[in-house]
Amino acid sequence: MRLKLRNVFLVYFVVSSTGLLYALLQLGQQCGCTRQINPGNNIHRWETPHRRGGENMPVIYVVTPTHTRPHQRAELTRLSQTLLLVPALHWIVVEDSAQRTSLVSDLLAQSELQYTHLHVQTPPAMKLKDSDPNWLKPRGVEQRNEALHWLRENRSPKDHGVVYFADDDNTYSIKIFQEMRNTHKVSVWPVGLVGGLRYEGPLVTGGKVVSFHTAWKTHRPFPIDMAGFAVSLTLLLNHPKAQFDPNAERGFLESSLLGPLVTVGELEPKADNCTKIWVWHTRTEKPKLKQEELLEKQGKGSDPKILV
Ligand SMILES: *[C@@H]1O[C@H](CO)[C@@H](O)[C@H](O)[C@H]1NC(C)=O
Repeated sequence: MRLKLRNVFLVYFVVSSTGLLYALLQLGQQCGCTRQINPGNNIHRWETPHRRGGENMPVIYVVTPTHTRPHQRAELTRLSQTLLLVPALHWIVVEDSAQRTSLVSDLLAQSELQYTHLHVQTPPAMKLKDSDPNWLKPRGVEQRNEALHWLRENRSPKDHGVVYFADDDNTYSIKIFQEMRNTHKVSVWPVGLVGGLRYEGPLVTGGKVVSFHTAWKTHRPFPIDMAGFAVSLTLLLNHPKAQFDPNAERGFLESSLLGPLVTVGELEPKADNCTKIWVWHTRTEKPKLKQEELLEKQGKGSDPKILV
């Protein structure tokens, strides 16, 4: 009995010493595992490799016009969290409203992005009515011009930067921001799901834009979607009058800005000579809120204090 107990202790001693030795050896080795992201961690502190080291890069100024609608917060949340993955970025959000709304102010304050919050109301005569088809008049013109005005007041041509007009309903890969970062004058790339085509974009020969793949108003000087180009900050500030023309014919808004700034031959093709799609002209379906209206009539609508 006595002997048996001694054996048990002996086995216990050998096993635990081996375990301790193994653990000590492991300590000295490189961990080959992926670092676990603590789910309780604040997402703001989650610095991705993309976001790190943006100190010496040209700043990307992303200009987003936006207007109040049921799905506005969803769209801005999606875009803001894409932008979080991009280093050296400054988001200029311009509301089509008489004042800054608290919905957008709060969203920006919580975004952990560097941002500027502006507003300008589209004159009633230019505004799209609810019954109008959304292609009738160009949208967001006054708002984009307001952002240009802010840049001219607050930045100098010596600042290294690039300006990109990013509507809140498109879908952006972080790759498109890497592509546009170094833009000398105007860089261009194709945009997916636009112009009634799988994609619309510049056609490149020998590294130069020679024409455009488009099926709609092919006579446009720059048949490029708003999401398909970025402009050097220096070039914009050196042309103090360059802006979007509120009276431009439908489809000619992009050309109204680019015309005075570059020639087609000067465009810088990105995304592997315009063969890769890294941005899509997606559109969100207008939410149907018929039941909400019915319940509201009975005084039983959704809690207005709950932000959607
Ligand atoms: C684009 O095309 C030019 C000319 O054919 C070529 O020299 C260059 O390497 C191409 N760039 C890319 C990224 O494929």
